[in-house]
Amino acid sequence: MSFDLPDLPYAHDALASKGMSKETLEYHHDKHHAAYATKTTDMVKGSEWEGKSIEEIVKGTYDASSVTQSGLFDNASQYWNHVQFWEWMTPDDSKMPGELESALTESFGSVDTFKDEFKSAGGGQFGSGWCWLVKDADGSLKVTSTANGINPLCFGQTALLGCDVWEHSYYIDHRNARPAYLDNFVNNLVNWENVASRM
Ligand SMILES: [Fe+2]
Repeated sequence: MSFDLPDLPYAHDALASKGMSKETLEYHHDKHHAAYATKTTDMVKGSEWEGKSIEEIVKGTYDASSVTQSGLFDNASQYWNHVQFWEWMTPDDSKMPGELESALTESFGSVDTFKDEFKSAGGGQFGSGWCWLVKDADGSLKVTSTANGINPLCFGQTALLGCDVWEHSYYIDHRNARPAYLDNFVNNLVNWENVASRM
């Protein structure tokens, strides 16, 4: 079983006018995501994880006792994270569906407060990682952040939205300005219809 690199759901230059360049997507998708796919496939081959789904591998190899994870977990989680990440962005103008707007307002007070919390979580994540909007097992919505490739699957949560805050995601377009990248992500790039579909 191989974990293939999915095509981007849009052209490499489709997000350029919205602040994510063709060069970023060429490196991020064609090199970084591709490497996670290849390494996951190689590590799973002949192991006890052969034939398992990517979600089963991520959940099954996560070590809750440590930030440092196995090579298989790191590559499998990053493979999964990036498959979602491309779907969370769109070159189109995306209007937030009413059900999502209501849920965010109920949970955070307003959509703007949610965006502020999401950006703070991403900006405050020390080193490489992700920030998330998750639906917890009890149905509540929360903003979280995780180190490296760790993701909501590890905690039994549903990932509604995630933003990659590894330097490879923003350094070409924003250099060291992670807050500017996060601000552009939530205000210009997010595919809110996709987020709502995951609720
Ligand atoms: Fe990434």
